[in-house]
Formats: sequence, structure tokens, C-alpha cells
Amino acid sequence: QAKNRQSVSAEAYGEWNKKTNFVAPVHPKTPEVKERIQEILDNSFLFSSLDVEEIDVVLNAFEEVVVKKGETLIKQGADGDKLYLIESGEADVFKEVTKEGTNEKETLKVNTMKPGDTVGELALMYNAPRAATVVAATDLKLWSLDRQTFTHIVRDAAAKKREMYEESLKEVELLKDVDAYERSKVADALKSQLYHAGDTIIREGEAGDTFYLLLDGEAEAVKGGKVVMKYSRGSYFGELALLKNQPRAATVTAKTDCKVAYMDRRSFKRLLGPLEGLLMRNMDHYRAVMTQLGLDTKYL
Ligand code: CMP
Repeated sequence: QAKNRQSVSAEAYGEWNKKTNFVAPVHPKTPEVKERIQEILDNSFLFSSLDVEEIDVVLNAFEEVVVKKGETLIKQGADGDKLYLIESGEADVFKEVTKEGTNEKETLKVNTMKPGDTVGELALMYNAPRAATVVAATDLKLWSLDRQTFTHIVRDAAAKKREMYEESLKEVELLKDVDAYERSKVADALKSQLYHAGDTIIREGEAGDTFYLLLDGEAEAVKGGKVVMKYSRGSYFGELALLKNQPRAATVTAKTDCKVAYMDRRSFKRLLGPLEGLLMRNMDHYRAVMTQLGLDTKYL
């Protein structure tokens, strides 16, 4: 009962929110500068569901920020009122954590952010304190976006997508040791598709630019008329063509209706590149199966 009432008022709030005439700040820019920011945004999944008008509002609202090497941009635990898009330079991300089984604190470097990356979106997305400290590793040129504009225009779609994939991605073995933040980046980059039982998802010999995660259903890889791999919820496939720059080494077919999530080559390299060691382990498995079946392993 109480839950019901809450969801009604949340809806009412949403309606009210739409009707308030929010006016985003405008920081004038030349068309060239706008175009430059647009190019960065084109590669940022956080902004990928905006329509042209929304993009224009956001382009106007960005404000240039310059930070010198060594300066702190974001402090863990602080309130956050901006996110930043990196145009040039690099920033290191540090997290203060409590050492396991003790009260001692230690600071770990957890990430290095590069041009095209967004930093500081978490505090705005989840209304939370800053999750980490961000320090300029080189001189930085950034574009900042205020909390209001982010909340009104960008947040809902981006948060919905992260939430949608959050549970499924927890079941993906490959991502088991990836921290929640990196997993949310994977969610940003994914699109999903449904296949019917019997559909071909990947065809042997074709060029491949896509990496797949199986979110639901069962699929199998077939080569030389033999089943070389069975996939179930949480499995992945399609990595070989991307890792080795070669044609698809097998045909993958949906055995039941399947829901897959997929990402393109560039996202794969950027987000899953660090997992190459793990991805290669699957390859050892393929090689063993193929040898056992007496199949050619030239693509492995
Ligand atoms: P926010 O919490 O607002 O401020 C710190 C930012 O660091 C955070 O948003 C992310 O954008 C960024 N960040 C990069 N790597 C991590 C990480 N591993 N955990 C948390 N935040 C991270």
C-alpha cells in the first residue's frame, strides 16, 4: 500500500518536473568549438540518447575549465555539482579504502581517465558524495556541465540504461572481478537484441565487429558441423575476431529464444581490452575442444 502511494507521487513529480520551464545556462561558443565538443560527445555513451535539441542545450551549457598538472579536480566524499568531459590531458583517480580486516585506510589508484572520458558523473547520477578523488596527471582541458542541466536533460536515460543491465552483468563470469564503476561503463556501451530459436547470430567466415554477451537463453557455436561450444546466460562470444582481427571462426546459433547485449569493436577494445588475459583463457578452451574433435585450429 505504502509502496503504491510512493510510486504515484514519483510520477506526479515527473510530470511537474517536465512542466517547469528549466532554462539551462548558456556559455557562448564559436561553431568550431561546439563542433569539437560534439565530436567528443559522439563517442560518449552517457550522452547517446539525447535528441538534437537536447544536444544543443548541453553544448551551450558546457563551460571550459583548465586545470594544472597536480591540482585536485574532485575530492572523495565532497558534494558534487559538476561533471567534466576531458578534452585533452589525463587525470588519475584515487580511492581511499579501508584495508581488509583492519581499520587502516589506504589510498589506491583505481583509474586513469583520458580524452573523451567523463568524470564526476556518479555523484550527479545517484545524488551521492564523490566516490573518488581525481587529480590532474597532466595539464587538463575540460568541459564542465552543471548538475541542473545534467539532471534535467541527461540523467534519466543514462541511469535507466545502467540499471537495466546492472543485474545481468553481475552474472557475466568475465566481468566478475571488474569493479562496479567499470561495469557501469560496460552498461553504457551496450545495446540489446532478441533472437529467436534457430536464428544465426554470427556466421563463420564473415567479418566481425561485434562482441556479444548472452543475457538470456541458450546458444551454441558450430564449426565443421560439430558443436564446439555451448553458451548459456552470462556467457560471451564473438571476442576472437576482435582480438585477432580475423573472420568469424565459427557460427553461433540461438538454441532457444535469446536476449543478447552487444558492443562494437571500439568499445570492446576500450572497456574490455584490460581483460585480454581472461579472454585469452577461453581461447585455450576452444583449442582443447577443437583438437579433441579433430578440427583445424588455425584460427586460434
Ligand atoms: P564522482 O563520484 O562524481 O567523482 C569521482 C569520479 O571518479 C566518479 O564520479 C567517476 O566519474 C570517476 N571514477 C573513475 N574510476 C572510478 C572508480 N573505479 N570508482 C569510482 N569512481 C571512479
